Amino acid sequence: APRPNTPVGTYDLVVVSNRLPVDKVTRPDGSVEWRTSPGGLVTALEPVMKQADGAWVGWAGVADDESEPFEHDDISIVPVTLSAADIEEYYEGFSNDTLWPLYHDVIAPPTYHREWWESYVRVNQRFAEKAASVTATDGTVWVQDYQLQLVPKILRELRPDLTIGFFNHIPFPAYGIFSQLPWRAQIIEGLLGADLIGFQRAADAGNFTRAVRRLLSFTTKGTAIDVPIDEEISEAIEPARVSTSRRGSLVRTVHARHFPISIDTQSFEDLARRPDIQARAKEIRAGLGNPKVVMLGVDRLDYTKGIGHRLKAFGELLADGAVTVEDVTLVQVASPSRERVAAYQQLRDEVELTVGRINGDYSSISHTAISYLHQGYPREEMVALYLASDVMLVTALRDGMNLVAKEYVASRFDDDGVLVLSEFAGAADELKSALLVNPHDIDGLKESILEAIQMTKSERTKRMRALRKRVRDYDVSRWSTAFLSTLTDPSGTPSYVATK
Ligand code: F6P
Repeated sequence: APRPNTPVGTYDLVVVSNRLPVDKVTRPDGSVEWRTSPGGLVTALEPVMKQADGAWVGWAGVADDESEPFEHDDISIVPVTLSAADIEEYYEGFSNDTLWPLYHDVIAPPTYHREWWESYVRVNQRFAEKAASVTATDGTVWVQDYQLQLVPKILRELRPDLTIGFFNHIPFPAYGIFSQLPWRAQIIEGLLGADLIGFQRAADAGNFTRAVRRLLSFTTKGTAIDVPIDEEISEAIEPARVSTSRRGSLVRTVHARHFPISIDTQSFEDLARRPDIQARAKEIRAGLGNPKVVMLGVDRLDYTKGIGHRLKAFGELLADGAVTVEDVTLVQVASPSRERVAAYQQLRDEVELTVGRINGDYSSISHTAISYLHQGYPREEMVALYLASDVMLVTALRDGMNLVAKEYVASRFDDDGVLVLSEFAGAADELKSALLVNPHDIDGLKESILEAIQMTKSERTKRMRALRKRVRDYDVSRWSTAFLSTLTDPSGTPSYVATK
């Protein structure tokens, strides 16, 4: 049962994530618009929440917003307020200048500030309290991502009656890297408040389990972790989740498993089949001067995405004369992201300098080497771009999953197009028929780009069919069903076939 005097809500399923699926945008005339927010997490969870009669707890993307809960597109939205200082310290600071670079293998140096950590603790407490107050007795709360790793533990203390899941959308680093974090034990303890901790790749789940053993010396067996508990707590927990360890102490079993996230595959295919979107794809190609080959990159402008490596490889191919701007063009969509964090500002300068140089050196009056777009686009336009592109370049240096790779595949109902995919993106575990690359190896990347450009139609079809099968069979609804059913019954056979 919930603890006495704790307010209890009405929702049986509550999702908690840093960002709501909609950002609040105030127009110049003062009117308010709720606009779909960027990023893979929202892409994945939106269809899940539309189906479930649940609530979504999160931040509206602006400072000091005090909006009351409301309905949007069949989803109950419960906003959490962040002040300007919270945004600076918890979101831009600890989440995106400490945890983000650390969890992405220190591609950029993480910054450790005690004030940021204190803000992270306070804001996690606020999210946990909000979630606790809207969830029904014996309900389920599903906490999302690295911004909220302390929420499971706080929530369990507030509401021992709840079933708590956590899903990490980004990588979980090897212990040698994770152990840099001054607050490493608190993070692990925070996560262990959940009943099930989900990761993208088997390697991430393994890294987490090893961190638990190294830091807390808890016993682990396969994906199960024994977390010692005292008797008072054990009485509030579902009996099936409590057992006695070999040493005779009471333990709660937590599971750490991988559930590679996906997209609403069918909705991408449906868009791609629309005549107006196909017409738009043709228009895009014509606008580019109808080159023989259109290559595409689509990323949040983030240093983990390997945009610089991709540009370097393409620039060298132009310099070598292996490709010409009349034949091959690159469209690079780089959507604005975390623009107040210094590392992102620096990246933008580097990318834009490189694009400017390559265009200056190789473009002609009629053909541009790189069409660079520092903008976000609606789903329809993205699908038209996917259809218009012969080669999709995903060259992340480290990426939890990379849903853009799956979106491209889902859109290519014509069984055409070549996906060049970094082995450091989670998607590489599943999309094995892509041209897998190590983006650090510029020569190798150049060879793969040429191979993609020159690939025969029959080879393209063969590979795309295999990719499409995977993305169709493992869509986001299968992902969420697998996670939630494992959360309810961890002993049941996982319906989600594991990837190595
Ligand atoms: O998956 C990583 C993630 O941080 C998500 O939580 C989010 O949807 C996306 O990247 C975009 O980032 P932000 O919310 O910081 O703009």
